[in-house]
Amino acid sequence: MIKRIIFFVSLEVSFITYSSFGIINDQHDFILIKSQSLKNSYISYVQSQNGKIFIVKQKRHRSVHSRLCIVRDTLSAYIAEKVRIPTNRVCIIPPRVYFLGKKFMDEPASLHTYAPGFTLREQPSVYDDLYVQQRWKSRWSYEQKGLTVEVIRNMARHPALPLIVALDTFIGNSDRHDGNLCYDPKTDRFCGIDMDDTFNKNLCKVARDHVRAMLDDVNLIFSFQEVAGLRQYMLTLEKLIDKFTPDKLQKKLDYFVKRVGLTSSRMFNNKSVKHKLSEYKIIMVESYEDAKKLIRLLDKLIVLHT
Ligand SMILES: Nc1ncnc2c1ncn2[C@@H]1O[C@H](COP(=O)(O)OP(=O)(O)O)[C@@H](O)[C@H]1O
Ligand SMILES: [Mg+2]
Repeated sequence: MIKRIIFFVSLEVSFITYSSFGIINDQHDFILIKSQSLKNSYISYVQSQNGKIFIVKQKRHRSVHSRLCIVRDTLSAYIAEKVRIPTNRVCIIPPRVYFLGKKFMDEPASLHTYAPGFTLREQPSVYDDLYVQQRWKSRWSYEQKGLTVEVIRNMARHPALPLIVALDTFIGNSDRHDGNLCYDPKTDRFCGIDMDDTFNKNLCKVARDHVRAMLDDVNLIFSFQEVAGLRQYMLTLEKLIDKFTPDKLQKKLDYFVKRVGLTSSRMFNNKSVKHKLSEYKIIMVESYEDAKKLIRLLDKLIVLHT
């Protein structure tokens, strides 16, 4: 049954952030459409007065790791938005701030714009067999990881895909499976979601190594459409490194870390938080350097196949 609840977004900081989502009043009338308890997360669908649907997401476990997931999801979506890559937008609902659909009020949550359509997993479509995931798990050989020829051929199937794949390479997202990619057949639009397992691996280096091997492969042939996809992928990476130097990314990371309440002395003194944050920052620097090298190799590959 649909529940109608009036609630107050009390904190000024929250007001500022939500306003960029078109939630402009500090007093809001939202409707809870449904709440789901999934394997890893609680997902609530809420509708604002003007009819817009948003997702409220919280991980099932209250932990420092869950807070770091919110930070990384928000940072990834922020990057995508600035470079106009089609993904959901995300903002942080801080701990102790009431929001309809939030399961644990004392924990932070994330508020997401609604990705139209359904995930590829939830619907039959012409993209049933699409594969654009840059694998990372240890069960795969190095050749099977990251940007492969298979991913390049697949991303050529729709103009939005090279943008999303370039984003994933840049942020180290190896989780772009069919449950994290929405497609709306009515508008023929893709929208990426769920980018919380990021900044913890260098997919730019893997892509760089693979593209170098592709340059030496005399049997490799790319179609016209595949070369066009590669060009789009390269241009998107160029935009990303132009806009997001490691220094900028690190500052944004620190800002979002504060928003999820990880700077309270108890949590910040947690060794694993400090360690994880410094790890992400190192990866940001390394990925950036490898992305520049990757772009040079992609340029050569495109010339070779044109
Ligand atoms: N922004 C969104 N728009 C539409 N559906 C979403 C959105 N975010 C999540 N969902 C739905 O909730 C499911 C779980 O969300 P997801 O962010 O992938 O969480 P998890 O980390 O548990 O995989 C998705 O597969 C999708 O069905
Ligand atoms: Mg998911």
